[in-house]
Amino acid sequence: MNTTTNLIKEFQAIFMSAETPRVFFAPGRMNLIGEHTDYNGGHVFPASLSFGTYALGCKRDDQLLRFYSLNFPETGIIECDLNSLSFDEAAGWANYPKGMVLYMKEASNSALHGADILFYGNIPNGAGLSSSASIELATGVLVNGLFGLNMERIPMVQLGQKVENEYIGVNSGIMDQFAIGMGKENHAILLNCQTLDYRYAPIVLENHSVVIINTNKQRTLAGSKYNERRSQCEEAVKELQQKLPISSLGELSALQFEENKQLITDPINRKRAKHAVFENLRTLEALEKLQQDDLAGFGQLMNESHLSLRDDYEVTGIELDTIVQAAWDQEGVIGARMTGAGFGGCAIAIVEKDRVEEFKANINKKYHEVVGYEATFYTAAIGDGAREL
Ligand code: GLA
Repeated sequence: MNTTTNLIKEFQAIFMSAETPRVFFAPGRMNLIGEHTDYNGGHVFPASLSFGTYALGCKRDDQLLRFYSLNFPETGIIECDLNSLSFDEAAGWANYPKGMVLYMKEASNSALHGADILFYGNIPNGAGLSSSASIELATGVLVNGLFGLNMERIPMVQLGQKVENEYIGVNSGIMDQFAIGMGKENHAILLNCQTLDYRYAPIVLENHSVVIINTNKQRTLAGSKYNERRSQCEEAVKELQQKLPISSLGELSALQFEENKQLITDPINRKRAKHAVFENLRTLEALEKLQQDDLAGFGQLMNESHLSLRDDYEVTGIELDTIVQAAWDQEGVIGARMTGAGFGGCAIAIVEKDRVEEFKANINKKYHEVVGYEATFYTAAIGDGAREL
């Protein structure tokens, strides 16, 4: 039996329903390069993954929403009324779909109905592969489909970000929701986060694979230093504005930054800004390398990205640094870096296909020696964005 058939059975058992639900899916994402640049008005280069979150739903005649997640069976069915969807600590994980339903209802100005909705995700939670944006967009395509809202995709992506920022309270950028909402099989997306201009770039690696390495260090974005990094960059922009007519760090060239960096008084904020400016430039350069079939050049930029995140942005930590250093020390590795917000989560490496097994064994040996537990490995396939199955 395939996943979908199984999930339909689960749905019918949990909600005691004879109806066949419609099945929707939103992937997770990895980011190839361009980290902590989205909220700095720069570029990112993410791709959607083949694993993600399934959302199955049936309309109800009343105003009741019932949510159940196979990943959190201990919380049981979480119920709420369509007319009182404000954030509620006790609803736990269900706040993500609740927030999304609320904002879609407001934005579309439609009278929705209640629904029974089952979620199942195969993205590891807290691994930095955007399980939260995935559940937001899975809810988005489900609500759009069940209630025939005809919402365009980019506004839906923006509502996902609004859930994160205003409903949950994490000041994240647009990258995750965009990658998940707009993903395309075997392509990464170069996105200008200031203008939302984007283009797809084929990722055809032939003799190489992208390996995702999970540190298995538990962390939550809300509790991390994410919001602090963001305000440090905002402070740097304010000081640069004394002389430069900019609204974000993503607008600066290397030369402009070098000539004006002394305006940033706090040396820590100066390092943060340096990362944001150069990471944005590296991201643009990375696309050029890919277009020139220069995979080695691409890998080199990934490595530089990690160094900058480690030394200037300071969002890596012993777990990610151990994995990435061990990857750099391996034969057959083109490039390696952390991906996502950092502070734990996942790293990615481009590895020669024939050496992937050897790579995993060697990395795990080193990781276990230093950190005391194992890492988990996934070989990334790049799949399509959020959709009905
Ligand atoms: C998290 C956020 C994104 C982005 C990355 C870092 O994934 O949700 O908006 O800022 O961190 O690049």
